[in-house]
Amino acid sequence: MLKEIIENLSSENPWRDRIQFFETITSTNDVLKQLANQGAPEGTVLVADCQTGGRGRLGRTFLSPSQVGIYLSVLLRPNCKPSELMHLTCASATATCTAIQEAAGFRPGIKWTNDIVYENRKLSGTLTELSIQPDGSTAYAIIGTGINCNQMDFPPEIRDIAGSLKMATGRQINRALVAAKLIDALYDTNRRLLTGKSEIIASYRRDCVTLGRKISVIQKDRVRHGTALDVDEAGALIVRFDDGSVETVNSGEVSVRGMYNYV
Ligand code: BTN
Repeated sequence: MLKEIIENLSSENPWRDRIQFFETITSTNDVLKQLANQGAPEGTVLVADCQTGGRGRLGRTFLSPSQVGIYLSVLLRPNCKPSELMHLTCASATATCTAIQEAAGFRPGIKWTNDIVYENRKLSGTLTELSIQPDGSTAYAIIGTGINCNQMDFPPEIRDIAGSLKMATGRQINRALVAAKLIDALYDTNRRLLTGKSEIIASYRRDCVTLGRKISVIQKDRVRHGTALDVDEAGALIVRFDDGSVETVNSGEVSVRGMYNYV
C-alpha cells in the first residue's frame, strides 16, 4: 500500500519521504501526537488500514474496519497563533472534497463543519487537534481524516446515515489513490493556509450544503431552530434564528433539516 500511495503522489509533494503505513493502529491521531511530541517534522503522515481506537469529534468513536477505508493523519507546524487557525477544520474539509473528486470522480458536499456528505450520507469525517505551547503559540496541528471507501453496508446504528465512495459511484475504489490525493490536497492547502484564507473559505462556501438550509443548533442541551446564512472567515456558521436574531455559531451540533435522519 505504501509504495502505491507514493507512486500516486504528485512529484512535487515533499511529504513523500515522511509517510508511514500501518496495517493496524490504535488511532493515527494518537500515534502521530506521540511522534509530534518527540519532534517529528511537518508533513509526517500516518496512514492505516484499520484502527482499533479510532476517535471522532465530540468524544465519539470512529468505526475503522480494515480493507475498506482510509484512516490518515498529517502533522502541521504552522508558524502562527492558534487564533489564526480557526479556519483549519474548514480547510481540511474542502481539501477532502478535492481529494475525493480527483480519486473517485465526483465532488461531495460538506455538512458544517466537516462531515463530507453525498446524497444525504456521510462519507468522511475529520478530527483536527491543536497543541498549544505554554507561551500560547502553536506547537503543532494534527488533521486526522477517515474516508469510507469500499463499504457496501454499515452496522445498524449508522446504516441509514453512512455511505462510501463505492456506494456513491458503483465502482471499486482504489484506496491508495484516495490516500495519495488526500495527502496532495492537504499539502496544497497547508501551503496556502495563512496567505490564502479568503480563497480557502470561498471554496468551503461552495462545498457547504448547510448554507441556505433550515437547521437546528444544539448547544448545552438547548435546541434552537433557524436558517444557515453563511460561513465567516474563521469558518463559523452565521445563523438567523427563528426569533429573528442573527448569531455566529462556533460550536455544538448542527442538524440540517432533510439530512441524515432529521426531518
Ligand atoms: C468525525 O466524523 O467525528 C471525525 C472522524 C475522524 C476520524 C479520523 S480517522 C483518522 C484519524 N484518527 C482518528 O482516531 N480519528 C481520525
